[in-house]
Amino acid sequence: MTETTTAMLTLRTIVELREALHDAERPVALVPTMGALHEGHLALLERARAQCATVVMSLFVNPTQFAPGEDLRSYPRNEDADARLAAAAGVDVLFAPPASEIYPDGFASTIHVAGVSERLEGAARGSSHFDGVATVVAKLLNIVGPQIAYFGQKDAQQALVIKRLVRDLDMPVLIEVCPTVRAGDGLALSSRNAYLSDSERVRATALHRALSAAARAIAGGENDAAAALSPAREQLAAADIEPEYLEISDPETLVPLAHVVGPVLIALAARVGNARLIDNVIATPGQEPR
Ligand code: PAJ
Repeated sequence: MTETTTAMLTLRTIVELREALHDAERPVALVPTMGALHEGHLALLERARAQCATVVMSLFVNPTQFAPGEDLRSYPRNEDADARLAAAAGVDVLFAPPASEIYPDGFASTIHVAGVSERLEGAARGSSHFDGVATVVAKLLNIVGPQIAYFGQKDAQQALVIKRLVRDLDMPVLIEVCPTVRAGDGLALSSRNAYLSDSERVRATALHRALSAAARAIAGGENDAAAALSPAREQLAAADIEPEYLEISDPETLVPLAHVVGPVLIALAARVGNARLIDNVIATPGQEPR
């Protein structure tokens, strides 16, 4: 399958997918998604298209990564629109299985990546969230067998969990982490932004302002984590947002840091209206934030 192949295949079973990929040109890319595609997803597809001969996108709203009471039922779903966007982005194969294909009766295995799964999102949502992510991503990697799989820095902790998983289980795949795509006002693109009303959408821009304020403090030489977070808390308070967490941590282990000496991850989660939003930036003392 090369760029001259235009028609995108939509497949729903593992057998069909393996069959279709049997003779596919390498490298094969996998871009796992839960759909409701936006420019953040499209940036991953664009990178995959530029680097790989065959691009597979999975579309699967994975039930096991949602805790009871979370938004599994209301999660935005629009396969037709997603399929059009994926085809336009040059996807060769859209893998959109039903839940019974991924979790057949009797399914009993779970992958737990200890350590990184427990912090930040794991502490807020329960570490079973990342058990669900790690298990489904391991399955997708085994089903597709890509040489490169693409993930977004927007979900920094998820990317760390997956890198650890792939290293620990000797999975022969390169994990590419792509920069966070933002709207012009800084808000990180997210499928869950669809839950925001117009006024909440404006308030939500405080998340990135808060992260930027802390990153500027660190870039400017503030090495006390609590002091660096203080202007961030002010930005959130001004928008009437109470963070679920707002933390400075080691960008590889996610261990919380009191003192900043090298690059750090500044990450937050906050509820704005019905949307639970997460965002992060990396900051390095003496360097412009990215
Ligand atoms: P989903 O939220 O659909 O995201 C799919 C991929 O797009 C993830 O790697 C995510 O980090 C990336 N992404 C989302 N918003 C982004 C943005 N604004 N900029 C850059 N990348 C962005 O993450 C998941 O699905 C699921 O947990 C999944 C990995 C598919 C497992 O079920």
